[in-house]
Amino acid sequence: MRKTILITGASSGLGEEMARQFAARGHDLALCARRTDRLEALAAELRAARPGQRVQVRALDVNDDDAVFEVFGAFRVDFGTIDRVVVNAGLGKGAPLGTGRYDANRQTAMTNFVAALAQTEAAMEIFRDQGEGHLVMVSSMSAMRGMPKAGTAYAATKAGVAHLAEGLRAELHGSPIRVSVIYPGYIRSEMNEKVKSAPFMVSTETGVRAMVEAIEKEKASAHVPPWPWVPLGAALRHLPLPLARKLMG
Ligand SMILES: NC(=O)c1ccc[n+]([C@@H]2O[C@H](COP(=O)([O-])OP(=O)(O)OC[C@H]3O[C@@H](n4cnc5c(N)ncnc54)[C@H](OP(=O)(O)O)[C@@H]3O)[C@@H](O)[C@H]2O)c1
Repeated sequence: MRKTILITGASSGLGEEMARQFAARGHDLALCARRTDRLEALAAELRAARPGQRVQVRALDVNDDDAVFEVFGAFRVDFGTIDRVVVNAGLGKGAPLGTGRYDANRQTAMTNFVAALAQTEAAMEIFRDQGEGHLVMVSSMSAMRGMPKAGTAYAATKAGVAHLAEGLRAELHGSPIRVSVIYPGYIRSEMNEKVKSAPFMVSTETGVRAMVEAIEKEKASAHVPPWPWVPLGAALRHLPLPLARKLMG
């Protein structure tokens, strides 16, 4: 069992619910995000439900490179080993390219890709030193194909994240360090709370259950939930553009 799991972006949405579901499966947790009040409340809830279970929280802005390495290192000192790292912190800002919102697209690129790279470096330093570990990258179904309009920069970051995982998996093939990339479809969270309805949107609990199952099985890659995202993923990747555009909304 991967006893200790470090999750970034654990203060809301998928990260918070992953913490709940991993805790219910008996894992110890290292949780970080910027909103420490929310992390403290979550930790109190988890410790009350299972006294004896170890839950540590730390403030982390993943855009602060030095802090990423410091916080991951401090969690390793707390627990002795970090068995799994879930690179989850992310942002859904964006605007069509060339419409004066470089600030929003840059912020998404820095948080979702550059900061994910920092988290991956910090995790891999720990795993290489330990000789084992499980790296989990949270990508998105939008990584299947370049997306139009407000989704263009976001989708590019998520494709980048998936390629970091795939490159590492190629390098580490046959080693005790495992790498998974998770492609969520629409799962209710703070990121999409203002979206009234999106196609095939599932509740946070349902979507995260599919994520946690795939992660525990250490699948190389997983579209979650599998229905309808496995066939839709294939369609998005392979349909001619005029047809694929109809799926992109
Ligand atoms: N929900 C979906 O439908 C969906 C689909 C595909 C992929 N995803 C991906 O799933 C991941 C989680 O998103 P979510 O849907 O759960 O959204 P969310 O509810 O908005 O959660 C985002 C989390 O990321 C953290 N975060 C954002 N910027 C950060 C920063 N600079 N430093 C540290 N933490 C930061 C937030 O914590 P603080 O604000 O407290 O720092 C929060 O805990 C993201 O990578 C997202 O792209 C989501």
